Amino acid sequence: MLNIAIDGPAGAGKSTVAKLLAKQLNIIYLDTGAMYRAIALKAIEQGVDVSDTDALSVLLEDTDIDISYVDEQQHVLLDGRDVTDIIRTPQISDGASKVAAIPAVRLKLVELQRRIARMHDVVMDGRDIGTFVLPNADVKFYLTASIEERAKRRLEEMRAKGYEHSLDDVKDDIRARDKNDSEREFAPLRKADDAILIDSTDKTVDEVVEEMLPFIRIAS
Ligand code: C5P
Repeated sequence: MLNIAIDGPAGAGKSTVAKLLAKQLNIIYLDTGAMYRAIALKAIEQGVDVSDTDALSVLLEDTDIDISYVDEQQHVLLDGRDVTDIIRTPQISDGASKVAAIPAVRLKLVELQRRIARMHDVVMDGRDIGTFVLPNADVKFYLTASIEERAKRRLEEMRAKGYEHSLDDVKDDIRARDKNDSEREFAPLRKADDAILIDSTDKTVDEVVEEMLPFIRIAS
């Protein structure tokens, strides 16, 4: 199986690049962040504190996360319910980065992520794919960009979906999530030693994909 890992901080363009790459290579794209978002959604809906390790462990026992593909689009199923669209709010982003610090949450989701990678050629994006989920991935990329650029891109993405926020709010949200993600003890956000570093600050999505393709050709 061809396994491609893309990690990096929030708003670096991972999902846009990964989707395009998957399309060009005719393989599936797995957005692992969506799984953490689905757990956060369930906790919030049930009034469970997203930082309460014990309460979340209990919640997890009774939680089923699954992924399906409809017209090549990933759908996230939370206990059988399609939550793909409603997990994209800032409240869920913040909750996801809190539940993601809890080892029991990560272990449950990592098991599913590894199972998918064993069965399919996949481009997987997240924070710990190259370092923890798929340490033997065929190619690993670490995609980053300046905080200003990442905040601008996130703002545009949210505007396109009809949400209005200020650039400063988006910047604060990204900074807080990067801090949570890189300072947590279990599987923190970090560039794998063998990952190829790409700074997308002054690059278009197509340019980033073009930069990645030769590395993938060598590996596959
Ligand atoms: O990628 P996305 O912004 O949707 O991820 C939401 C949150 O899920 C991240 O801020 C991060 O805390 C968490 N996450 C993670 N590990 C992954 C993917 C996402 O910790 N592999």
